[in-house]
Amino acid sequence: MASPVRIAPSILSADFSRLGAEIAALEKAGADMIHVDVMDGHFVPNITIGPPIVKALRPYAKIPFDVHLMVAPVDPYLEAFAEAGADGISVHPEAGPHIHRTLQVIRELGKKTGVVLDPGTPVDYLDSVLDLVDLVLIMTVNPGFGGQSFISSMLGKVEAAAERIAKSGRKIALEVDGGITPQTAKRAVSAGANLLVAGTAVFKGGQKNYAANIAALRG
Ligand code: DX5
Ligand code: ZN
Repeated sequence: MASPVRIAPSILSADFSRLGAEIAALEKAGADMIHVDVMDGHFVPNITIGPPIVKALRPYAKIPFDVHLMVAPVDPYLEAFAEAGADGISVHPEAGPHIHRTLQVIRELGKKTGVVLDPGTPVDYLDSVLDLVDLVLIMTVNPGFGGQSFISSMLGKVEAAAERIAKSGRKIALEVDGGITPQTAKRAVSAGANLLVAGTAVFKGGQKNYAANIAALRG
């Protein structure tokens, strides 16, 4: 029996004027993780939050902080996010010169490692780092903003990643991020995803809807 699909709401769509209360509400509504989209305005055309905000948010929820670093160069910031309370740190191969060493450093910091494949990044990038990752994140939008449409041609990449993970024999989460709705969630899960990031679909209708919105994504 496959383990239930986990949901990681992205705080990108939260009310930034009360982020602490928002992540507490997400935990209460049944979120499995908090997906923290960190953007630097250089690697992606948007700026969100940094380590001090992650540190301030840490006491508001017990569930893991799944930190997605859309930051380049990414290496100088790994320790700060680890110390701020990240449980997992996911990085893009394009965000530094040595993805293998970056993942080693995240491991040495005692955190779960993730590699993120943008829509334009080939799935082969996984082949030389699969033994170092706890999570593979397949972007189904180009990173930077919530509310974009799901790029369905990425489903083939999800399947290819799932195949590689199965062959590795290692326990690696397969996460999908971008344009996830109850409809696209089903397609992502049938392609092999077991962890879904969603912003718009979780936050719509306000806190009273979070539990139902999360349940609808689990299917
Ligand atoms: C893009 C972000 C978004 C976000 C999810 O960089 O990572 O994918 O978290 O946004 P929605 O669920 O609104 O597409
Ligand atoms: Zn993300």
